[in-house]
Amino acid sequence: MMSHKKVVLLLLAFSTGTLLLHQSSHLSWFPKSPAFSCPPPLPSRPKHTTVAFLKTHKTASTTVQNLLFRFAERHNLTVALPHHTCDHQFCYPRNFSARFVHPYTLPPQLIASHMRFNREELRRLMPNGTVYVTILREPVAMFESLFSYYNQYCPAFKRVPNGSMEAFLEDPQRYYRPHEKYAMYAHNTLVYDLGGDPEHSPDDATYLPEFARQVEGVFSLVMLAEYFDESLVLLRRLLAWDLEDILYVKLNMRSPESKLNISSARLAAQIRAWNALDARLYDHFNATFWRRLADVGQDCVQKEVRALRQACGDLARRCFGGQPQLRPAMQIKNKDLRPWQPSAKVGIVGYDLPGSAARSDEQCLKLVMPEVQYSRYLLRKQSQRNRRRGATSRVLPPRGLLRAPRHPVPRGI
Ligand SMILES: *[C@@H]1O[C@H](CO)[C@@H](O)[C@H](O)[C@H]1NC(C)=O
Ligand SMILES: *[C@@H]1O[C@H](CO)[C@@H](O)[C@H](O)[C@H]1NC(C)=O
Ligand SMILES: *[C@@H]1O[C@H](CO)[C@@H](O)[C@H](O)[C@H]1NC(C)=O
Ligand SMILES: *[C@@H]1O[C@H](CO)[C@@H](O)[C@H](O)[C@H]1NC(C)=O
Ligand SMILES: *[C@@H]1O[C@H](CO)[C@@H](O)[C@H](O)[C@H]1NC(C)=O
Ligand SMILES: *[C@@H]1O[C@H](CO)[C@@H](O)[C@H](O)[C@H]1NC(C)=O
Repeated sequence: MMSHKKVVLLLLAFSTGTLLLHQSSHLSWFPKSPAFSCPPPLPSRPKHTTVAFLKTHKTASTTVQNLLFRFAERHNLTVALPHHTCDHQFCYPRNFSARFVHPYTLPPQLIASHMRFNREELRRLMPNGTVYVTILREPVAMFESLFSYYNQYCPAFKRVPNGSMEAFLEDPQRYYRPHEKYAMYAHNTLVYDLGGDPEHSPDDATYLPEFARQVEGVFSLVMLAEYFDESLVLLRRLLAWDLEDILYVKLNMRSPESKLNISSARLAAQIRAWNALDARLYDHFNATFWRRLADVGQDCVQKEVRALRQACGDLARRCFGGQPQLRPAMQIKNKDLRPWQPSAKVGIVGYDLPGSAARSDEQCLKLVMPEVQYSRYLLRKQSQRNRRRGATSRVLPPRGLLRAPRHPVPRGI
């Protein structure tokens, strides 16, 4: 980790860069493409700028968060960020509370950091008309990812001999203790993050359909990691955003050596059985997702997906001279771009910026900035803006509002 002083210096350098870069020069290189949207045409309406993104674990949600942070910066939106005592997450795994939000980030238009969803508290915090969005991932791949990412945190995984996922799945109840620290990473993590009960008996056939109905009542869009570009196309249409608002580079990925190989149907079935609620939730939203794609029209969606991939490729070429090279964290020279590493066993790979031209380009830097650094940067920037406004009397003082978390919270994707 960087020293505090260094972080502050780096952030100051960034903030200065922000002030120098004129807003309008940002995307001038990008060709405007009015022909981009296809039938049924998007009604011309202003971009929607109040968004709550429930950032779930190990679901490509860091990439979505990065895209939303960049959108917020370009459109001068206030992003709700966690109070210092919550780390860079909203005191996850506790239920979200508006008290976890840093006072210098009030009142927010956008929220996108990890939390355990709590509908009433978010309603209190966010403006009326806020659009709620989240992302799910197919539970077999997701569990493999959770198992390897949190193997040093989650006691359920640490108890398993030789750290073997196969051994865990043979008899999960032998290693798993509900309600112990970090238990939420080992059992129905999606349902937990969405504010549901991960321990609810899967034999109760009414629970999951009712829960899915509640989720549908709140979230206007449930994206899927497996169909990431199609999800972004739906997001863009929902929010009336431009193509350049959904450009991305994939973030917070593991090195190939850190991934386990789930080739057996038996193992996959065991994972789905253990995470039965998540599996049903995913299947439900996979079905609704494909119905929505059909509503827009597959041709139209594919056309927009191609345009998105082309534009992401163009941006990557401009910033990195091609698809950026994934590197182990220690090989990344710019410390600000080094992703956090969950343990010595799992390598989270990141990017470095080549060439002096790209290094000075703020847009390229932000495109590959890991979650922890970007969150700190935004908090610093918004705090400065807040002080300049002299608005400190308007915001609530943080004193007495928060208890320090009982244990450090691991940084999630
Ligand atoms: C950005 O927002 C601040 C306050 O939230 C406002 O003072 C400023 O004028 C805005 N700037 C632009 C370019 O919209
Ligand atoms: C957190 O939320 C869950 C689900 O709504 C609820 O069952 C639980 O009691 C809440 N926990 C606390 C400490 O409020
Ligand atoms: C949101 O809507 C409710 C009811 O429609 C209203 O009472 C409340 O004042 C509104 N809040 C804001 C911040 O506009
Ligand atoms: C753990 O690994 C060691 C060496 O690979 C092996 O001898 C042992 O049987 C394994 N234990 C279990 C419980 O699988
Ligand atoms: C994964 O397992 C299958 C079957 O056991 C094997 O054919 C394949 O080579 C393995 N892949 C890797 C990357 O180890
Ligand atoms: C999602 O649903 C589609 C359409 O029914 C199906 O083809 C696909 O296999 C499903 N994806 C996953 C990951 O289950």
